[in-house]
Amino acid sequence: MSATAPRPAVVTDFSLVTGLSQTKKPLQRRISAMAGMYADQEAARRLAEEDVLVYEFFDMGVPQSSGEVAYGTSITYPGKVGDEYFMTKGHFHSVLDTAEIYYCLRGRGLMMMENPEGDVQWEEFTPGQGVYVPGRYAHRSINTSPDEPLITFFAFPGHAGHDYGTIESKGFRKIVVERDGAPAVVDNPKWAQ
Ligand SMILES: [Fe+2]
Repeated sequence: MSATAPRPAVVTDFSLVTGLSQTKKPLQRRISAMAGMYADQEAARRLAEEDVLVYEFFDMGVPQSSGEVAYGTSITYPGKVGDEYFMTKGHFHSVLDTAEIYYCLRGRGLMMMENPEGDVQWEEFTPGQGVYVPGRYAHRSINTSPDEPLITFFAFPGHAGHDYGTIESKGFRKIVVERDGAPAVVDNPKWAQ
């Protein structure tokens, strides 16, 4: 197809209640696919037996080139592994210096971010608030609500790519746990330098 050939616009429905689409299928991540990422391995093993759904998100199949915008919704379900809140795997972008915007549609939570130099940041997700993740920062969504899904809409450059392996092997420096009934950001005991 030539660069000047007509291309159809794309329209997709995303529910503000569920985050899901009636016309597209999300990718699902169950606890068994990420049990090793949680601090409480015994609790993770128990939940893996039921293979609880932790989060789902959309890959709309946008071409992976720099002029494109990849996008979709991400739904992280409420729950905890031990006292650690359900979260996404989290990733760097393969093209490290590419940013991403997440706009919170529903729920409560945090976006955890860190760069390779060790700067750590986190920002609150609340409906109506967008969190702009700067280039070079790994990012992970964490649902701190006891009963509501955390639903965000995200968009990032089409050529960014995903590096999940670095976080899978090292973890994030900080995790989010429930302490006295409220979320607390603490050092990750499993973090590997
Ligand atoms: Fe990303």
